[in-house]
Amino acid sequence: MCAMKMIPSRLFQIASTLLVSASVALHPVAAQTRPAPNPQLASKELNARVDALLKQMTLDEKLGQLVQFSAGYATGPGASNLKYEELVANGQVGSFLNVVGADATNHYQHIAVEKTRLHIPILFGQDVIHGHRTTFPVPLALAASWDPAVVETVAHFGAAEARADGIPWVFSPMVDIARDPRWGRIIESAGEDPYLGSAMARAWVKGYQQDDLGKPDSVAVSVKHFAAYGAATAGRDYNAVDMSENLLRQVYLEPYRAAVQAGAATVMTSFNTINGIPSTANPFLMTQVLRREWGFDGMVVSDWGAISELTVHAIGDGPTVARKAIEAGVDMDMEGDLYGRVLADQVRAGKLPESVVDEAVRRVLRIKFAVGLFEHPYTVPGPAYEANAERRAVARNVAGETVVLLKNETVEGLGPLLPLSAKTRKVALIGPLADNPQEMLGAWAQLGDPRNTVTLKTALTERLGDRLLYAKGCELLSGEDANLIERVRFNGPLADDNHAKIPDDARMIAEAVETARKADVAVLALGEPTNWMEGEASSRTTLNFTGAQQQLLEAVVATGKPVIVVVLAARPLELKWAAAHVPAILLGWSPGIEAGHALADVLLGDVNPSGKLPVSLPRAVGQEPLFYAQLPTGREASGDLSHLPRNGVEKFQSRYLDEENSPLYPFGWGLSYTRFSYAQPTVSRVEVPVREVLTNGYRPVVTVGVDVRNTGSVAGTEVVQLYLRNTVASVSQPVRELKGFTRVTLAPGEQKHLEFPLGFDELNFYNAEVKRTVEPTTYKIWVGGNSLATAETTLKTIE
Ligand code: NOJ
Repeated sequence: MCAMKMIPSRLFQIASTLLVSASVALHPVAAQTRPAPNPQLASKELNARVDALLKQMTLDEKLGQLVQFSAGYATGPGASNLKYEELVANGQVGSFLNVVGADATNHYQHIAVEKTRLHIPILFGQDVIHGHRTTFPVPLALAASWDPAVVETVAHFGAAEARADGIPWVFSPMVDIARDPRWGRIIESAGEDPYLGSAMARAWVKGYQQDDLGKPDSVAVSVKHFAAYGAATAGRDYNAVDMSENLLRQVYLEPYRAAVQAGAATVMTSFNTINGIPSTANPFLMTQVLRREWGFDGMVVSDWGAISELTVHAIGDGPTVARKAIEAGVDMDMEGDLYGRVLADQVRAGKLPESVVDEAVRRVLRIKFAVGLFEHPYTVPGPAYEANAERRAVARNVAGETVVLLKNETVEGLGPLLPLSAKTRKVALIGPLADNPQEMLGAWAQLGDPRNTVTLKTALTERLGDRLLYAKGCELLSGEDANLIERVRFNGPLADDNHAKIPDDARMIAEAVETARKADVAVLALGEPTNWMEGEASSRTTLNFTGAQQQLLEAVVATGKPVIVVVLAARPLELKWAAAHVPAILLGWSPGIEAGHALADVLLGDVNPSGKLPVSLPRAVGQEPLFYAQLPTGREASGDLSHLPRNGVEKFQSRYLDEENSPLYPFGWGLSYTRFSYAQPTVSRVEVPVREVLTNGYRPVVTVGVDVRNTGSVAGTEVVQLYLRNTVASVSQPVRELKGFTRVTLAPGEQKHLEFPLGFDELNFYNAEVKRTVEPTTYKIWVGGNSLATAETTLKTIE
């Protein structure tokens, strides 16, 4: 009996392996029949134009197309300072980054189009990360909206504004899974989860590219940084990554895959090594996974100088690493010029087949044709940018959706502290981020202008008039923090605040305490500098409020006045003290130009917060990397971990001696001004044959239904989340994984029935042969408002 049962199960496994490899792996037949993820780049007409042009090109002209320089301000170390006009005229440049605006781009474009033999236009690329001129909240904040439509809007805005500035190609989205806030680039990510990250990745691509790269308001994306850049060892930027292929595929590659399937036109490599092989010379990533398995027809650009840095990774000298990179599938050399200098000799010496160069050039030209550069190489100068009412309204709504209410306790005489009651006569606004326009923009606000920013002080003054009292409280930086910033800045002036010499924090704190005493409530706007302390090359070993902000907080709390902390930092900080001592905490991230209005809307109750954490918030930095989808351990810690172990059973557990395992606030967490209740979820079928899941393609085989009710007295929006656990599998699976979410708006007392489809995509995992599969098992399924959801049901997959 047993043996007989084994046979079909084996068969299913084989069938699953075949099915899955046919859908995701290289297979000549599958490759021919599989629809191209970006039909524009695969189109016959476009490729005929590419080939016709390629045929006319000399080797030097071809190599010129593979070279990209930064000809403006630098966004990396050691920017070249060359005679770019001459290089363009000689056909030695295919692309520029950091050249922005109609005038600047047209300047080089005229030379390329009018002076080169084949008149091939330049492709201008730019870091448009959270808006171009209209600055929106940073990507991690946008992920907190759990609203792909919001991300699409931001991307579309960025695309239109970038195009108006001569930029048809953006270096966004960053879809690296980020589970360690020591890594400053976590703010550019969608956080820790592959399911949420994939949803955001698709939305970014859709918003930027709008299914047609040639539209006057769409741009080609560059999905970055391929791959697993966010898993840098110890959270130190650019550091090595070592991980199993199962983890790589099941978690880290998923958002890139989603972006490519959504039609992403280009991909950027990452700086790190993966299992010893640098990504920028990694044929497994660039050729096997990206092109063969996923069918990517677009172009791969290196990150800044990453090809020349391969010599530092010590995998060869300059000519060798350039050859390795192009053979691995890296088509364009960003600001390193190794391709331009060494590849011609490699080809002439017979070490590199010219066909490899041809293929790279084809991919570059595909993008140039697809974005319409041959038809419209120049940008017609438009009216000067203005942060007008329409743009502001969008920025305000978007920012409002990203705010996360972490805590909101009842205060005697006032009820829940937030929203601020009309009975509150005087409000003391305190903190170095209460009135700091530059800091509201966030770390990648390249062309964002602080003069367009509305601060919390401005917004609350508009609303409260002389009911608002204000004290800065302290500087954002002081002592060592200030010195640190002085040392790391390499480009352009800092915001005045960061630059300021610290006059007297103690005096400022005393002033703030006095101000708080005169008010009924104190709102403290605290955080860390986004400028130079968040984003690239900004790893930290501490996650505290910078400067004297913690002392300021403690001093104001000591007045006994109810305190609301508004955290204005996009990286998760340690909020343990605040969580234990203040009744209300709002996480505002880096909200963009409408920061003040958006935060005031939430503080005053015009907007009911609906943001949810896309990343777990730690109790202590020592817990990092901290994420909810942990694998079980054989010594699972249970019970109360807030005290030292009292016996052997409590001791020999997977736990810290000096801190709890759990996050301070878990993934998916976020409160509302109303409450939601969840009924017991149900499944449309309790059992599904494995065979059906495997053969149903990506169509759902079962739906999970749940009734959600608004039990409070105001309307609110809840992000309903579905988690599951595969309880028995041939490879140990995480204790919970997000597999569905939706936003639902409910009037007071209103109830809605929601359904979540589950199919192969949600139920699969990677087995020991690193193939996606489904086995007979029981899935526990929870639906709720965060990753601790308790309303539960089960689903079985059977032989
Ligand atoms: C390096 C960063 O890693 C990448 O994200 C960015 O797009 C490039 N520099 C260009 O600025």
